[in-house]
Amino acid sequence: MPHVLLLGGTSGASQLAQALHRAGIAAVFSYAGATASPVAQPLPTRVGGFGGAQGLAQFLRGQAISHVVDATHPFAAQMSRNACEACAATGTPLLALERAPWLPRPGDRWVDVPDMQAAAAALPQAPARVFLAVGRKQLAAFADQPQHHYLLRLVDAPAPGSLPLPHTSVVLGRGPFSAAGDEALLRSHAIAWLVAKNAGGEATRGKLDAARALGLPVVMVQRPDLPQRPRTESVDCVLHWIAHGTLPAQAPSMP
Ligand SMILES: NC(=O)c1ccc[n+]([C@@H]2O[C@H](COP(=O)([O-])OP(=O)(O)OC[C@H]3O[C@@H](n4cnc5c(N)ncnc54)[C@H](OP(=O)(O)O)[C@@H]3O)[C@@H](O)[C@H]2O)c1
Repeated sequence: MPHVLLLGGTSGASQLAQALHRAGIAAVFSYAGATASPVAQPLPTRVGGFGGAQGLAQFLRGQAISHVVDATHPFAAQMSRNACEACAATGTPLLALERAPWLPRPGDRWVDVPDMQAAAAALPQAPARVFLAVGRKQLAAFADQPQHHYLLRLVDAPAPGSLPLPHTSVVLGRGPFSAAGDEALLRSHAIAWLVAKNAGGEATRGKLDAARALGLPVVMVQRPDLPQRPRTESVDCVLHWIAHGTLPAQAPSMP
């Protein structure tokens, strides 16, 4: 009988949790503990780091995990590297559930950059109003560009004085976000630049449609490099992989 470890933190992970629950497949959902009140899942849920690749390997053995699905965010590179290492060490099959990166569409004004430091450097020298849609952990990279006013969208309210940037407005929210809502947000904050991570998927692409509609430049941070591992965009393919040990030859599209 399979016993799946689902590494979560994305909308795709939540979709897979529902599918595993419906299929009656035993699974543990794992959150990093990055947000104060994570989305409730229909699976037994654990919260917090494993203690590196070694700790994860110990967990896999201790819980008799038969399959690991890495459905973490494409920028959660450390967790994904640890999963590769721990699965290799324990001989546990690993599959990544990962959406394809976004591609620019006609009318988009994207500046592709390799990392957050390059994103900060790509902003103009003159003070600008910037929607910094990169998550709380990455804000420090922009501390060297304190002349800008940054709009931040965070899941949890920041503790007073905890932000490394002097001029900020904070809105709280958890995706999915619509293009219309994001266009209204960009307009109401008079945003001139957007900085985004190339996460892919529908839940957070509204801001890109909004930036295109308003003719705004987007600094697009490319994904970190990860070790080669089997991947799919489809929840159905994950279920097939658990049942048969392989991905189907013809992968259905993401629901
Ligand atoms: N990075 C983003 O832009 C982003 C956006 C949306 C959601 N998230 C979610 O937020 C979580 C943290 O992201 P991050 O960028 O901080 O990750 P990260 O840098 O790759 O991971 C840092 C450490 O957090 C722990 N961790 C991460 N994901 C975990 C999980 N699902 N279950 C248990 N422990 C986990 C691991 O600790 P140990 O080494 O101690 O095991 C890992 O080494 C991820 O689960 C991700 O899916 C991230």
